[in-house]
Amino acid sequence: MSGAQTDGGPVVPDPRPPSRVEIRVRKNGAYLVTGDVSLVDHEGRPIAPPLGKPNIALCRCGHSAKKPFCDGTHKTCGFVDPPEG
Ligand code: FES
Repeated sequence: MSGAQTDGGPVVPDPRPPSRVEIRVRKNGAYLVTGDVSLVDHEGRPIAPPLGKPNIALCRCGHSAKKPFCDGTHKTCGFVDPPEG
């Protein structure tokens, strides 16, 4: 919780603006994650995002060789979104 204090001391507000995270589902592709996020594995260990990438693209098709990241394989493996409606 932002600004929370658990040692009995005064609560000091966090001066940083609340960060906003967006997860965009790309048509026939990855989940594009933007914002201040931490990616961790099943044991809570940090997973470093690809260098030089301002956003994180997470594989949605299940065919990436770089899971959990998208490597573009969705374009050639035949992955398509389920029909809407
Ligand atoms: S969504 Fe891009 S490789 Fe899986």
